[in-house]
Amino acid sequence: MASHRTFTMIKPDAVEAGHIGNILKQITDSGFKIVAMKFTRLSKQKAGEFYAVHQERPFYQELVDFMSRGPIVAAILEKENAVEELRKLIGATNPANAEPGTIRALYAKNVGENAVHGSDSDENAAIEASFHFAGVEIF
Ligand code: RTP
Ligand code: MG
Repeated sequence: MASHRTFTMIKPDAVEAGHIGNILKQITDSGFKIVAMKFTRLSKQKAGEFYAVHQERPFYQELVDFMSRGPIVAAILEKENAVEELRKLIGATNPANAEPGTIRALYAKNVGENAVHGSDSDENAAIEASFHFAGVEIF
């Protein structure tokens, strides 16, 4: 996948709170084009695989339980410099440190339940996109 694409998820907390529409609007108003999208739910196993990089961290089990407790929206987004631009739009992991107006400042509850995911590199964006989408689902 080229570097103008990134991968995002609207996490279970934000879906439960009814923020899907507002978050997607903020993303598309910021110039991202949606090139793939699905409403789905991660099993515990899939959530564990997705966040396997964190498996030695103390919050790993909590993270797996959280990410598998309800549906999510997964999407691939396209924009110039997409990975960095989406991380800026999302804001810091802990919403207490997130810039005003960022998605996490607006919708995250705390450092664990923080509303959205954004890939942290071009390489991980490609891996995460193919974790969730088949080639025919990407437009
Ligand atoms: P993400 O991967 O979801 O976009 O978040 P991120 O890069 O901003 O943060 P990362 O360090 O990759 O952490 C992944 C997710 O793990 C949960 N977390 N909980 N309780 C805690 O201290 C803690 N720290 C991280 C969050 O859901 C975080 O987004
Ligand atoms: Mg991360």
